[in-house]
Order: sequence, then C-alpha cells, then structure tokens
Amino acid sequence: MSSPIVTVKTDQQRQDLVIIPPTSGVALSGKIQIPGDKSISHRSLMLGAIAEGETTIKGLLLGDDPQSTAACFRQMGADISQLSDQEVRVRGLGIGNLQEPNDILNAGNSGTTLRLMLGLLASQPGQFFAVTGDKSLRSRPMSRVVSPLQQMGASIWGREGGKLAPLAIYGRQLTPNHYHSPVASAQVKSCILLAGLSTEGKTTVTEPARSRDHSERMLRAFGAEIDVDPSCHRVTVTGPAKLTGQTVVVPGDISSAAFWLVAAAIVPGSDLRVQNVGINPTRTGILEALQRMEADLTLENEREVAGEPVADIHVRSSQLKGCELAGDLIPRLIDEVPILAVAATMAQGTTVIRDAAELRVKESDRLLAMARELSKLGATVSERPDGLEITGGAPLHGADLDSYDDHRVAMSLAIAALLADSPSHLYNAQAASISYPDFIATLKTALGES
Ligand code: S3P
Repeated sequence: MSSPIVTVKTDQQRQDLVIIPPTSGVALSGKIQIPGDKSISHRSLMLGAIAEGETTIKGLLLGDDPQSTAACFRQMGADISQLSDQEVRVRGLGIGNLQEPNDILNAGNSGTTLRLMLGLLASQPGQFFAVTGDKSLRSRPMSRVVSPLQQMGASIWGREGGKLAPLAIYGRQLTPNHYHSPVASAQVKSCILLAGLSTEGKTTVTEPARSRDHSERMLRAFGAEIDVDPSCHRVTVTGPAKLTGQTVVVPGDISSAAFWLVAAAIVPGSDLRVQNVGINPTRTGILEALQRMEADLTLENEREVAGEPVADIHVRSSQLKGCELAGDLIPRLIDEVPILAVAATMAQGTTVIRDAAELRVKESDRLLAMARELSKLGATVSERPDGLEITGGAPLHGADLDSYDDHRVAMSLAIAALLADSPSHLYNAQAASISYPDFIATLKTALGES
C-alpha cells in the first residue's frame, strides 16, 4: 500500500507532517496501546519525591511534560532514575525536605508541573525558589494558584502582581484555609491539597464542578488523610501528613485514547480496539459525548489496576450525530474538546460546545486554534466566547495547518486531515511529544502501514 502519511523533518527542533488522506477503503484496525496517563504520571513522580522510602512507577508516560517534572524534582534532591518504559524508581526525601535548588526550576510546557509544584514550594519554610516555563506557560494564568496560596500566608512574587511566571517563592509555614475555587480545575485543587500536606490542620477546597480526582486517590494510597464530599465537590486534607513510597501502576491516558476513538468513529470501515484505557469517572466525559453522538463504542474487560478503573475500548465507525456539550460534563472532557470538534465536522447536524472558556488558557487558545484551522480545511465552524459551534458534513480539503505548538491541537488536526480530499501540511507537529511521543508511528500502524 502507498504511504498515507509522510513525515518531513525540517530541522532538529521542528518536525512538520504532510498528511496524505488514505485511499478509500483504508481504515483503522487492530489493537492500539496508548501511553501512560499524563496526570497520574506527574503525580506519581511528585508524591514519590516527597514520600519516605522508595516508589516504583510502572507505565509512566515518557513524554516531555513528565520529563519536566522529573527534572525539577531532581534539581531539588529527589533521586529519580532515568525515565524508561520498564519502570521508574524514585527515592523520596520526605515532606518538607526538598532541597533549595541552586538554579531556576523550569516546568517547560507543563501547567501541571508548575501549578502543583507551587503548593509544595510555598509550604516549605525558609527556602527560596524561582520557577518558570516556556513561552506558552509564561502566558498562562498563575493567579488561580498564587492567590489561594497567598490566602494561606504564602510569599510569592511574579510578573503583573504574581499573575504570570516567572515566579519567586519564599517558603513558609502556612495556615489552613477553606478555598472556594471559581474554576473547576484539578490543578488548582491539587496545588492547595499539596500545600495542605505540611500545614497543621484541615485544608479544604470546594469546586463549582467535579474535576479529575487523581490527586485525592493517590494521596490516600500514599497514606494522607483525605476526606471527600462528592455531593458538594469538596476535598479536605489533614496536615501534617506523612507519605510512604508505593508502587504506582499508571493506566493508559484516556485523553490520548480519544484521538483513536474519534479517528476510528469517523474513518469509514474502521474497527479498532484501544487497550488499557483509564476510565476514572472524572475523565470519561469523552465516552459520554461520543455516545451522545451515537458512536459505536463498547467497553470490554473492565478491571481495577492500582486504585484506578481501566478497560479496553472497542470502536467501529458509524454515522455520528451532532449534539450539545455543556455544564458539568465539560471538566470531565476538558482536554478532549479539540478532537471532539473534529468528530463534529463529520457528524450530521450541529454540535454546540458551551461552558468551555477554560480552553482559552490551555497550552494555546484551543477554541481559536480549532476554529481557525478547521475552517481552513473547509469545515463549518464558528467560535463562541465559551465554546464552538460546528455543523458537520461540509467536505474537507487539504490545507496548510498550524499546531499552535499545542500537542492536542497538533494531534486533532492530524486526524482531521485524514478526512480531507487532498494532502495537508501540518506545521510544528512535533508538539505531540508533550503527551504522545509515538503518535505518528501509532497512526501509521493503525492505518496498516509497515
Ligand atoms: C490536569 C488538569 C487539567 C488538564 C490538564 C491536566 C491535571 O487542567 O487540562 O491537561 O493533571 O491536573 P485544569 O485542572 O486546570 O483544568
């Protein structure tokens, strides 16, 4: 078979793709293994670094973002082995024992690294830290974590009054607080819970809707006292806590599985199994959305692995229908909106996505990026202040596409370009390596390329 996708390397940093739509009759089939969950990977490295004793991590995501977390915690004295696909070993320092680094901590592109780490740094008395990130991260809002930490007594300074990185932190003994977060954000919640670990008393976060609960689950498994009231989205940690190293088995990332679920749903004739997918209920909004769109999905082999529910997902192509996605569902599919927008271009009728203004402050403004790039392909899409409106069925034509240096935009556009009637050029496709280093290789395999 002729090669449906050509990779073009332009220089050492940048990789573009020329995506040639597969000839009619070529579909996605077989079984796909996806990389480890990004959220759980970050947390396992961080908790391993502050626990007493040794933590073993199996199935860690080997992407750029967890590499940033590992590099920051190594700089603060944690003994973290090379990240490899076998297993990673972390010899922890114990809570409060991170060492003052002699250089700036760089979280790269990773909001989770920077925001969660801030909770630990701000609550470590007597030490000075400076943190930064790449161009995208330096433009993302930090006041959502800086301000609740300041309410607990933290000393943090940054550009625009502490709104933007780089940030400087002088660690202090904090006082407990009950924070009512205006956004449903697991990064905000987790930052405060991590600060609460070394704070005497009860530190509580209440959210407007439920965000992913990996921190709560893993903190409990490492020995912290965590109380959850799901009826009002409230979580409390009691400090001071003592964490003990554990074995963490990281399930496959449903946010990475989402690209294949949508690709197989919309490329005619596809029949694909995505294996070992984490189906934590705080993350399964994508499955509910695709079911509303009448995708043909079946969960198989449901099981629990190290405290997280996991399944294989069987997906076959079908005619999707437009639907409305809004409200409490949005935090449960927050990272999947770009690929759901691609699904909507192939659905009958109109899909309306609301209550998703958070997408504007991710690695890129994902509402703007997806509206612009899908329009270039010929899709009928309009941007709303808090979402997108997409009417499916317009034929897609190849175009010059930009990833906005955003991993999820890059991968979503690569899938959309498969449905066009002529080749597309996707600039800066290497952004995918943030969360999915093998994305292109897996795409080729699923399309039957050797
Ligand atoms: C994450 C939480 C989400 C998500 C991000 C990872 C986490 O961000 O978008 O990719 O690991 O806590 P918010 O919690 O800020 O929505």
